[in-house]
Amino acid sequence: MTLTRDDLLARDRDDPLASFRERFELPDGILYLDGNSLGALPRATAERIRAVVADQWGLDLIKSWNVHDWISLPQRCGDKIGRLVGAAPGQVVAADSTSVNLFKLLTAALEARPDRTVIVSERDNFPTDLYVAQGLIKMLGGRHELRLVDTGADAPAAIGDDTAVVMLTHVNYKSGWTHDMAAVTARAHEAGALILWDLAHSAGALPVDLDGCDADLAVGCGYKYLNGGPGAPAFLYVAKRLQDAIQPPLSGWMGHAKPFEFDWEYQPAPGVARNLCGTPSVIGMSALEASLDVMLGADMDRIREKSLALGDLFIAAVEQECAGHGLALASPRDAKRGSQVSFTHENGYAIMQALIARGVIGDFRAPDILRFGFTPLYTRYVDVWDAAAILAEIMAEGSWDRPEFHARAAVT
Ligand SMILES: Cc1ncc(COP(=O)(O)O)c(C=O)c1O
Repeated sequence: MTLTRDDLLARDRDDPLASFRERFELPDGILYLDGNSLGALPRATAERIRAVVADQWGLDLIKSWNVHDWISLPQRCGDKIGRLVGAAPGQVVAADSTSVNLFKLLTAALEARPDRTVIVSERDNFPTDLYVAQGLIKMLGGRHELRLVDTGADAPAAIGDDTAVVMLTHVNYKSGWTHDMAAVTARAHEAGALILWDLAHSAGALPVDLDGCDADLAVGCGYKYLNGGPGAPAFLYVAKRLQDAIQPPLSGWMGHAKPFEFDWEYQPAPGVARNLCGTPSVIGMSALEASLDVMLGADMDRIREKSLALGDLFIAAVEQECAGHGLALASPRDAKRGSQVSFTHENGYAIMQALIARGVIGDFRAPDILRFGFTPLYTRYVDVWDAAAILAEIMAEGSWDRPEFHARAAVT
């Protein structure tokens, strides 16, 4: 049976998540398929920011740290994120950026395995993860090795009794290929290593069960599927059983046991809070909390179900409508896929610019990946259909091949 646009409109009418779209600002005429890079703006965010800025900062000034409980924002947001990634309360805090949190937890992991020297990761990991590891190895005197496998599937075989920590991104940023979190975690533990998961493309996109997988450490982004806004605070997870053994490398006062005693000597706070460093970014964290409050109203299994259905539909439509134009699927066809679909094309950059000019917003990842993210809370089935139809037109006309579409912008 071939689908029609009307079938997809009917599917949107029956979608149990349909009402969430109303809770986001989405400009007319735009098909937004880039929530994996920057989530859309929840309507509640503007009012929350207004209240924090005008009512709290503006009127209550510094009293707000107590009166409006600004001081607990990292823990409050952390526990809310914990509900989305399978972490019981008291194990997640919102703080800093993903890169900084990686540095903190990778350092702690190496310190927790002093007799081991290897960090296992994959060449295709997001570059910041690899750069942070390289910088840390240098800082620690070059005693450690970053062992990179060529594909995620090779990671378990590279873990040995020399491995201190396995540092992997759960859902690959380019292809959307997803590790089996439980199996890889078990393999790391079997070898006596710790596991550090990067959940940048997982949190809010698909069910994650950190506690159920017995994970040790994790980090993730606030601005992608968590819709916390550009540069939103990131988060980190430390399993309860490891928390009091961690000696934070960035031992700032917000991770001190009693910051307002102003003692000269550092004494880590009990629990996950010791991984905080400096003053939380209150406005950014308030935006993140407003968005989390929207997300927590949705069922993650429904999100996953719709995300896979949107991806399947996009793959089928593109392969049918764009056949013969050199687009090759770079994502798994099955449930090994996260919430994105990627295609390669040697002129991927120009094709993506042509799509953006026509109102279909995805992004490009060098050297040749066109990446389309599906955020089930606000992406409709018909959007996916329309995006594929516009891509087909661009490919058939060759209209991507204009000088302005080849000129590289700073952010791709
Ligand atoms: C897997 C992964 N880790 C980390 C980051 C970014 O880290 P940061 O927020 O520190 O820039 C990204 C950004 O796209 C990412 O995809």
